[in-house]
Amino acid sequence: MNRMLVVCGVVTLLAVGSMTYPSGAPSQVCDDVSMTPTYHAQNCQATGVNNDDQYILTAEPVPGSNGRVKVTLTGDPFMGFVVRATTPGEENLGQFIAKESNVEFQTMSCTNLTNVAVTHIDRKPKSSITLMWNDQNNGNYIFQATTVQNITEYVINIF
Ligand SMILES: *[C@@H]1O[C@H](CO)[C@@H](O)[C@H](O)[C@H]1NC(C)=O
Ligand SMILES: *[C@@H]1O[C@H](CO)[C@@H](O)[C@H](O)[C@H]1NC(C)=O
Repeated sequence: MNRMLVVCGVVTLLAVGSMTYPSGAPSQVCDDVSMTPTYHAQNCQATGVNNDDQYILTAEPVPGSNGRVKVTLTGDPFMGFVVRATTPGEENLGQFIAKESNVEFQTMSCTNLTNVAVTHIDRKPKSSITLMWNDQNNGNYIFQATTVQNITEYVINIF
């Protein structure tokens, strides 16, 4: 928490208007059912909205790939993000693939499971990210995302 306060303070002083953990969200975000970035709400007075149509999250099985799924998050520019995979019963589910060319993300552990979510690696504004995920649950999966647009705004419940 102290580290987060410092980041918020520095950002405010520099007036760059950028927020988000510089090197990715902490695992608490994907331990939470709504994936709310609580540190932004508590330390940066950020407010969140539910996704309306600002963001589109798609998952397309890659033909002939034996369970690989291409996941794309597209919408208004955002600096930070978390995308996770769950069972229909909201249990975290692997596996995101950590290394692809042009990676803009890193995998995360949530509820002590590795590679069940991904987050940003920098604060550059982006309007689209593409992830690869391996289905190990026979097509029974749901993807969920949160984006942090800037110091004051985040969007949750992107499905
Ligand atoms: C993760 O594992 C640690 C150590 O076993 C445990 O204390 C903690 O409650 C676990 N967290 C979750 C979210 O399951
Ligand atoms: C944050 O993003 C929202 C949504 O795009 C925008 O309306 C708002 O002006 C932005 N605020 C700052 C401080 O950039």
